[in-house]
Amino acid sequence: MKIQILGSAAGGGFPQWNCNCHNCSGIRAGTLNAKQRTQSSITVSADGENWILFNTSPDIRQQLASFAPLQPARQIRDTGISAIVLMDSQIDHTTGLLMLREGCPHQIWCTEMVEGDLSSGFPVFNVLKHWNGGNNVHRIPIGEADNSFVIPQIADLRLTAVPLLSSAPPYSPHRGNPHPGDNIGVQVEDLRTGKKLFYAPGLGQIEPHLRPLMENADVLLIDGTLWREDEMIVSGVGTKLGAEMGHLPQSGEGGMIEYLDTLEKPRKVLIHINNTNPILDEDSAERAELTAHGIEVSYDGMSIDL
Ligand code: MLT
Ligand code: MN
Ligand code: ZN
Repeated sequence: MKIQILGSAAGGGFPQWNCNCHNCSGIRAGTLNAKQRTQSSITVSADGENWILFNTSPDIRQQLASFAPLQPARQIRDTGISAIVLMDSQIDHTTGLLMLREGCPHQIWCTEMVEGDLSSGFPVFNVLKHWNGGNNVHRIPIGEADNSFVIPQIADLRLTAVPLLSSAPPYSPHRGNPHPGDNIGVQVEDLRTGKKLFYAPGLGQIEPHLRPLMENADVLLIDGTLWREDEMIVSGVGTKLGAEMGHLPQSGEGGMIEYLDTLEKPRKVLIHINNTNPILDEDSAERAELTAHGIEVSYDGMSIDL
């Protein structure tokens, strides 16, 4: 299977338009050894022609322009996007649906909770009905004995969803009252080779049910939002802790590095990096620490052949 990182940043992107933090001001000034990043999305294909888009970021136009296989090539109006899978209903993962309105209806896969949010607190699906969209919504199973599903256009890939403890967005009717399916991780298995990707851009806690998925993955693309729990506060940009945002930090006791150290098989790659995170500075001590633990930081345009 082919995996393309379209956007490796968390909400706001990097640099964020209104941010003067150490990283954002440093990259603007050209004094920081770092790469610009768009907001959180990947795309995956078995044949290189039909692609599953995971999340639709507000930066989707730039992302499509930078990746030719998603561009029209076969008929007068066309796209390489065969289906869209949503991991949650956050702005950074769903606003791009509005930019894709000209191609409605899309085959959209999401949980009942995400469909609820996108029909109420952030009614993107209601808006898209005016473009013949928002109605081809397929249910991602969650809480069944077997949460796997196959998207008919991409029959060589089997997807398996898993509920994650992260956070529903501020506009969700169940913000602060988490429901299974507010946030999911997805395992993508290539049925021809048995190779497995596990993708979880928003992961607040690594619960025991995730162990087999993470242990058996060939590649992990996993929440890299924050280096430390109080990063927004110490960077001077906000008041929220990682736990409130639903993102497990990398450093410290019980952090992501400590957990990833217990996994032998997978290639370990961080994604959904917040602009305050010191790992964005490729010369930082924090980045060197990740490298010492065999952990990579994804970037826009990164390709993984699995
Ligand atoms: C998050 O995952 O917490 C988001 O990136 C927040 C946002 O998009 O504003
Ligand atoms: Mn996000
Ligand atoms: Zn910043």
